[in-house]
Amino acid sequence: MSQAAHTITLPALSEMKKRGEKIAVLTAYDASFARVLDGNGVDIILVGDSLGMVIQGHGSTLPVTLDHMTYHCANVARVTRRAMVMADMPFMSFSSPERALDGAGRLMQEGGAHIVKIEGGGAFLPVVETLASHGIPVCAHLGLLPQSVHKLGGYRVQGKDELTARVMQEDALAMQDAGADLLLLECVPATLGTAISQALRIPVIGIGAGPGCDAQVLVLHDILGLTPGKPPKFSYNFLDGKGGVAQAIAAYVHAVKSGDYPGRDHSY
Ligand code: KIV
Repeated sequence: MSQAAHTITLPALSEMKKRGEKIAVLTAYDASFARVLDGNGVDIILVGDSLGMVIQGHGSTLPVTLDHMTYHCANVARVTRRAMVMADMPFMSFSSPERALDGAGRLMQEGGAHIVKIEGGGAFLPVVETLASHGIPVCAHLGLLPQSVHKLGGYRVQGKDELTARVMQEDALAMQDAGADLLLLECVPATLGTAISQALRIPVIGIGAGPGCDAQVLVLHDILGLTPGKPPKFSYNFLDGKGGVAQAIAAYVHAVKSGDYPGRDHSY
């Protein structure tokens, strides 16, 4: 696919961190939403494997494959002009440096990604080193790792005690030293989010990691109030009280059933 020139580069993000300018990140999985995000100042569009839940209807990110990620990433990258496009490497696609190289290569060549994200701590340092040495930008993802949900026993806050917080701080520095360009921290205490952001040279993206991170990310469907069930504490429905997507659909159904739509204005 053709690679659109984008204006939010790694050096641009690094300058934003130095200036203390917050970086806005949101997920998208298709061209229509990618256009809206790109045209409204979102700096990084994350094609997250959260698509397993919000697009495919699964209960976790585990069923998402490299084919799925490549397809959705290509749909987003095709229309994105300004933002950096980040693609998640799905479960088991980076189980060795060789597999990771193949997968990341595909996400960049076929999917048009500018950077890939991998979930995991110290065990994945060789993967980060290999990708970085091949010129592939990497975002390391620490804290709550949704791909490890069965190992963790649920979606819980991580790094709450001194030992796990220290290990996460060490992993964060080691990821930076191994060549990671960005770090994402999910569901950690705000104090830990701030400490890691201040200790690192590279920009740190938080989700449920407090206001002290350099950047914030949320899942698009959460901020549009489309996710069923109780939202996570860190999430925020930015459409609440403004007439949301669900209200628009209910209004359409009502208008069709009542005969109010279509009217003359909508007819040839
Ligand atoms: O897949 C995703 O959307 C993510 C965010 C939750 C950070 O990784």
